[in-house]
Amino acid sequence: MAMGQRDWNQDYLEGHTPWDKGAPSPSLLEVITSGELPAQSEVLVPGCGYGHDVRALAQAGCRVTGLDVSATALATAKLANGIEGARYQEADFFDAELAEEKRYDVIWEHTCFCAITPDERDDYVDAAHRLLVPKGLLIGVFFAFAEDPNGDGPPFKTNIETIHSHFSKWFALEWERVPKKHFPTREGEEWLMCWRRS
Ligand SMILES: C[S@@+](CC[C@H](N)C(=O)[O-])C[C@H]1O[C@@H](n2cnc3c(N)ncnc32)[C@H](O)[C@@H]1O
Repeated sequence: MAMGQRDWNQDYLEGHTPWDKGAPSPSLLEVITSGELPAQSEVLVPGCGYGHDVRALAQAGCRVTGLDVSATALATAKLANGIEGARYQEADFFDAELAEEKRYDVIWEHTCFCAITPDERDDYVDAAHRLLVPKGLLIGVFFAFAEDPNGDGPPFKTNIETIHSHFSKWFALEWERVPKKHFPTREGEEWLMCWRRS
């Protein structure tokens, strides 16, 4: 673990996982059922935690890699395996060597961008750019209605303008909207976006 980096694995060891809803993101299910996810994509889920979104994507016919820095979270995610197309990797999303191993058609973002600090947001966008194939998509749900877009966290909530300012370095916006489906506790907080790697 790098100096100053939060010890996410310790949170999982202590069972301190208030973000975990025990189910895939409703916004992900919305994207899948609306046909906005290209069929049979190779998908990366950074910060996948217990892997609920990984399994939903695999069940939708994608080949999915769930990436997380927490060995403990991934051990639990793997217990629910048996779903063809899902695999897990313990690694740091910011590790530049990851892109030498494999690149993806789609990145699904859900509560990883808000887990990193505001000063790491450009690093996140650089990593997403490295890990996607040309014209690949980053589709994700973001906490985008914070009063202070650089406030304390985690979750480090932000706003739409700030997200645009970071992603526009490497990505072009395809579409964005309020998700129709969301966890009840996150009503009014989420913004669904699709960015294409330029
Ligand atoms: C707020 S949790 C969300 C987990 C999962 N997406 C969910 O909604 O249940 C953030 C997750 O990102 C992981 N994480 C944080 N920084 C990471 C990094 N640099 N690379 C990979 N995973 C990271 C943490 O271990 C944690 O599982």
